[in-house]
Amino acid sequence: MPYKAKFKVWRGDADSGELRDFLVEVNEGEVVLDIIHRLQATQAPDLAVRWNCKAGKCGSCSAEINGRPRLLCMTRMSTFTEEETVTVTPMRAFPVIRDLVTDVSFNYQKAREIPSFTPPADLAPGDYRMQQVDVQRSQEFRKCIECFLCQNTCHVVRDHEENKEAFSGPRFLMRAAELEFHPLDTADRVPSAQDDHGLGLCNITKCCTEVCPEHIAITDNALIPMKERVADRKYDPVVWLGSKIFRR
Ligand code: SF4
Ligand code: F3S
Ligand code: FES
Repeated sequence: MPYKAKFKVWRGDADSGELRDFLVEVNEGEVVLDIIHRLQATQAPDLAVRWNCKAGKCGSCSAEINGRPRLLCMTRMSTFTEEETVTVTPMRAFPVIRDLVTDVSFNYQKAREIPSFTPPADLAPGDYRMQQVDVQRSQEFRKCIECFLCQNTCHVVRDHEENKEAFSGPRFLMRAAELEFHPLDTADRVPSAQDDHGLGLCNITKCCTEVCPEHIAITDNALIPMKERVADRKYDPVVWLGSKIFRR
């Protein structure tokens, strides 16, 4: 049965903004993005929202619903009671452009800082061979839709703008891990993950994993194994001695 839901939607730009109240129709089976579209069609034609697929696959519609980072298109209205007020705000860790649209270029900058896949120089593309287990390991990481909800959630940058320079965030530390675990990648990703991308700032709170709409085990399968590699090098006496000898 259709009903009228109470919505609070953040409206504003980079300089100022506020939550605005709306009463809007909800029909069975709808998601929050449907309601935002209905608002655009009826009461707020200039409401800015970024979206594309409405199927949880493009990663565009990231925002915060009742303070929790979510995809607007994958959050069913049946999650809420009919009496509940649904509050929709832009992602908090990134600068607002307008209304629900944020400037996520921080993430593109961090992506560029990860050196690309580096296969052995003498291996022709058609000669690449991998074990199935290695294919499967990176397939989990490649499910990422780049919604940046994990980047928005991680407390290292969410509450500390000043950490953005030193910390690339879970999505890009996971990218470094994906390449580090790739049997054909020849680059040494461990020192740069620690020194250039801020792996040491992650204290494995797992909030990134909790919000990932693709259910990627970011912390357990990417961040912790990378931390183990850092620790192995630091505390393994043979590796330590080698690094001293060869650094001279
Ligand atoms: Fe989104 Fe998950 Fe990719 Fe992070 S790892 S950007 S939460 S899909
Ligand atoms: Fe942040 Fe995820 Fe680590 S939330 S602290 S990157 S486990
Ligand atoms: Fe594509 Fe929501 S619109 S993920």
